[in-house]
Amino acid sequence: MKVFITRKVFDCAVDRLRSAGLDVDMYERDERIPREELLLRVRGTAGIFSFLHDRIDAEVMDSAGEHLQIIANFAVGYDNIDIDEAKRRGIVVTNTPGVLTDATAELAWALLLSTARLIVPADRFTREGKFTGWSPTLMLGMGITGKTLGVIGAGRIGTAMALKSKGFEMRVLYTSRRDNELLNRELSAIRVELDTLVEESDFISIHTSLTPETHHLIGERELRMMKRDCVLVNTARGAVIDERALLRALRERWIFGAGLDVYEFEPKITEGLCELENVVLLPHIGSATREVREKMATMAAEEICRVLSGKEPINRVV
Ligand code: DGY
Repeated sequence: MKVFITRKVFDCAVDRLRSAGLDVDMYERDERIPREELLLRVRGTAGIFSFLHDRIDAEVMDSAGEHLQIIANFAVGYDNIDIDEAKRRGIVVTNTPGVLTDATAELAWALLLSTARLIVPADRFTREGKFTGWSPTLMLGMGITGKTLGVIGAGRIGTAMALKSKGFEMRVLYTSRRDNELLNRELSAIRVELDTLVEESDFISIHTSLTPETHHLIGERELRMMKRDCVLVNTARGAVIDERALLRALRERWIFGAGLDVYEFEPKITEGLCELENVVLLPHIGSATREVREKMATMAAEEICRVLSGKEPINRVV
């Protein structure tokens, strides 16, 4: 049975697939596969090992043909896959939750801290030889301890991010479909409506998945409701924020700053954002530690092996 890996990936995943007797083909470059080539190379495959930048829709499924049984996405998010179409065709879709929870929560904290304490402009300032001596007014940032943290989406990553606030003795608010007993117990956290979270938080961290309901969840209205000293962090999916509205909010100082790892039109960044000092911009590296990425690769390969040998996958999305 043929498996196609849409981008160069760690040997551990390729070896796992080959050891199961699968015929593995891989796009050998460490870059996003061109659409035409994707459509060509998936032909006749039973499994597709995909990445979050690959749009896996009906056209790709058609091109793969009737043997396609599984799409294993190397990510916890799967908004790049037409889930309804896969479901309709009886194609299994899997993701890689769990292994990247702490890495992503850690990166959210890195963004929160660096945005609040102006780490990036301060580093640049120092390197440029502008540090001529201590000053009582140099690089005044936002304090964190004792402030209010608002977590949008209290799933695995949102929960981990919130739990890591313990040392900062924060008041924690969160939005979620249901109460999060762990957060309530450990942090006396409070589940609130989005408007309350947006109005009352000093720091807001986004951890919700991208769905039609969460697209532009944070737009001009919400940004205008935020405190003027608010720091907004996004390590989830870019389109949860209306990036053009965010650009205006940062330019016109409706909020203190933002830390972004993801973008609405990724990998494009809304024009103007890169010129601003009050935003920290990272290239979607939430889960980017070697250990985590290798585990994600192995997990995706394992799922393909399971499904193609007639077993139930562990992390089935549909
Ligand atoms: C995910 O898994 O969805 C991240 O965005 C990439 O690791």
